[in-house]
Amino acid sequence: MSTQKASHKSPKKITTKTLREMKQRGEKIAMLTAYDYSMARILDAAGIEVLLVGDSAANVMAGYETTVPMTLEAMIYHAQSVVRAVDRAMVVVDMPFGTYQGNPMQALESAIRIMKESEAHAVKMEGGREIIESVKAVLSAGIPVMGHLGLTPQSIYKFGTYAVRATEPEEAQKLLEDAHLLEEAGIFALVLEKIPAKLGAQVAQSLKIPVIGIGAGSGVDGQVLVTHDMLGITIDFSPRFLRRYLNLHNDILNAVQNYINDVKTGDFPNENEQY
Ligand code: KIV
Repeated sequence: MSTQKASHKSPKKITTKTLREMKQRGEKIAMLTAYDYSMARILDAAGIEVLLVGDSAANVMAGYETTVPMTLEAMIYHAQSVVRAVDRAMVVVDMPFGTYQGNPMQALESAIRIMKESEAHAVKMEGGREIIESVKAVLSAGIPVMGHLGLTPQSIYKFGTYAVRATEPEEAQKLLEDAHLLEEAGIFALVLEKIPAKLGAQVAQSLKIPVIGIGAGSGVDGQVLVTHDMLGITIDFSPRFLRRYLNLHNDILNAVQNYINDVKTGDFPNENEQY
């Protein structure tokens, strides 16, 4: 594998245009979260189209219970590590709680810091009509914005639960209207989290921009999962929508136990493992 980064002019790089064309062709988009260099290199080499530097870093990297404590500085640090790793994938960075809601100028400044300091390719913002002025302010600077509706974890204290959203017609209608509002404002893609599959398909069919689901069913234009969940590094989070492709928690546990044993018995290092 080449260690050289592809040129910024490389046609192989994934852009907002690539994603829109994929939707038009009916080709599904694969997105995963990434927070560090080593993992991002593997995911990019595997051919992932979008890497989300999610504020789920608060949970899986920092051990917080919610995403609320995540800071702009921490997001920029994770984004820089991911951007350094990537040759092809588009890197989208979550704007953390408290850096954009209710204040378009603050939103613009936060998004500009993310873009300038990390060299990522886009930002993601949670919410609909409540944050529309902030979304427009960020877009006005030419920064691509990915929306996020349905279960929006930064509002966990408002919801009071991580249960499925928009199961009632009123909330489903609001979600549909918000999706259109965001598309009209100019976002390039939309994440839908934990909503009924039927509603996910309805939103995807009625928008021109790609809709990427996490627990939003198979009728959307792509899927996203938290990498630590799909690799089975986390074990205490098992929502219905999660498919685990590995059980790395056990594999790592066994490997480390073997290492400890080898050190303690003097088996490691052996003759070939020393100078
Ligand atoms: O922060 C995150 O990982 C996310 C995904 C769950 C979409 O927002």
